[in-house]
Amino acid sequence: MKINLISGALGAEISGLDLKDSSEENWRVINQLLLEHKVLFFRNQNISAEEQINFAKRFGPIERHVYVKGRDQYPEIIRIIKKPDEKQQWGETWHTDVSYNPKPTKVIILRSIKIPPVGGDTMFSNMELAYETLDNDLKEKIKDKKAVHSSLGAAAFVDAYKGMEGNGNLDEYSNIHPIVRTHPETGKKILYVNSMYTKRIEGLDESESSKLLKELFAHQERLDLTCRFKWTENAVAIWDNRSTQHQGLTDFFPGRGLGHERVMDRIAIEGDQPI
Ligand code: SIN
Repeated sequence: MKINLISGALGAEISGLDLKDSSEENWRVINQLLLEHKVLFFRNQNISAEEQINFAKRFGPIERHVYVKGRDQYPEIIRIIKKPDEKQQWGETWHTDVSYNPKPTKVIILRSIKIPPVGGDTMFSNMELAYETLDNDLKEKIKDKKAVHSSLGAAAFVDAYKGMEGNGNLDEYSNIHPIVRTHPETGKKILYVNSMYTKRIEGLDESESSKLLKELFAHQERLDLTCRFKWTENAVAIWDNRSTQHQGLTDFFPGRGLGHERVMDRIAIEGDQPI
């Protein structure tokens, strides 16, 4: 096995491991690497949908997406499609998946099916490092504070992408989570807000809350906390959704990435309540 670090902040490309192997032993090695590096990348993994599902199940029960319809034959998998003429793609700004849920996703396994010749890399950001690098003043301001995460607009959002289909659920969900959560497996502190779903801080008035959230979001987007993965077909990214944020870049411009389809298969694993 070879481990190639992707940036100074997080992420490792792993070679010499096969994701077709969903044995407890293989999973243990990968889970340990995941806790250490937060996002793992594997290339040339010619795995079937069944094999992706089998490996995912090692992490825990599979979560159905709140708003996106699963694949007909494999409802556990949602297919993220960017049509050739689309400039935008699903997951296009910094976020933690479904943080509006009471128990947001633990781990995501994303497999590339079709990749444009250029454009559409995915970026990840390390939220343990984001907490560690906050100045003491900010750490003091958010100590013991909670924030409201809401799915407001998320259902309709699915319709913005031509190749994506909603599952018919239009309900909105809102849940309150600590701004600093503790990782259930490593015990590390995590800065747990994100600009897509975190709407306000409890106990602060509207302007104080919005000012503080803006400061936290700006800090989370610091480039030195990130890594970036350039996809090839049949690659797999596995990330810890508790301690990271991610975004799919929409750098599809005429004469370059625009005019090409991008297709990914995503499986999510159920998480626990942030504490
Ligand atoms: C996501 O936000 O889950 C998808 C990211 C991507 O397709 O790069």
